Amino acid sequence: MQPTRARTLRKRWRKRAVANWPLRRLAKRIKVMETKISEIADGIYRLSTYVPDIAPPAGFTFNQFLVLGDEPLMFHTGLRKMFPLNRDALNRIIEADRLRWIAFGHFEADECGAMNEWLALAPQATPAHGQTGCMVSLNDFADRAPRVMNDNETIDLGGKRIRFIDTPHTPHGWDAGVLYEETTRTLLCGDLFTQLGNERAMTDGDVVGPAIAAEDIFKYSSLNPGMGSTIRSLSKLAPRTLALMHGPAFVGDGAAALEALADDYDRRLSDLVRVGRI
Ligand SMILES: [Fe+2]
Ligand SMILES: [Fe+2]
Repeated sequence: MQPTRARTLRKRWRKRAVANWPLRRLAKRIKVMETKISEIADGIYRLSTYVPDIAPPAGFTFNQFLVLGDEPLMFHTGLRKMFPLNRDALNRIIEADRLRWIAFGHFEADECGAMNEWLALAPQATPAHGQTGCMVSLNDFADRAPRVMNDNETIDLGGKRIRFIDTPHTPHGWDAGVLYEETTRTLLCGDLFTQLGNERAMTDGDVVGPAIAAEDIFKYSSLNPGMGSTIRSLSKLAPRTLALMHGPAFVGDGAAALEALADDYDRRLSDLVRVGRI
């Protein structure tokens, strides 16, 4: 090989290696991470993996939720690369092949990256998602045909009853939705209230302030005119527990927290209108 050609290749390789460094470091960390289990409401378990390398020094959590019943449901599949961790954690609660439903908030790697791994492990499980998500993603991506959920449709899990609620583009994703477990009044609210850190599995403290701070950092929401009213409509459920995908589970006045979060998104939107950015 010509010396200049070899030099160019070496340079290119080094550039790629540097670009991939955070991912390689994350993959390495995942091997030594652990997934912690907490029961956040009667028969609802939080499987939580903390990744200190994301948004250091606070770090970031990825939470999956197992809703027990005659037909157990998993909300969020977790990242594909975290599948072994989540599978082992779930197996400490029930045998994974007992899972009957796989659901999630929107089509994104942390929400549903490991869906097909779960479907392979649990032969009786069916993916369930809203009309938009099934139409644009799951009909193609899922290894088994999904159950298409209409807005406000429920599934009786036997001992638990979950309701699918469409929240398009809130906090992001055309297909976005949340699940509400009616018997425990638990809102599985996905990325809503995302916060940094890993202080505790459950809290009755402030979840709105940390969510506002995380939004300022990540800017992860698709700000849209309907956002405030979409979040405010969830407050009518008066949830007792808010199961955050990235943060602790909040136990307390869920309606007040949702209204305060909605107010903050309204404020962000009117700020943008005021400065002419919308
Ligand atoms: Fe997301
Ligand atoms: Fe997420």
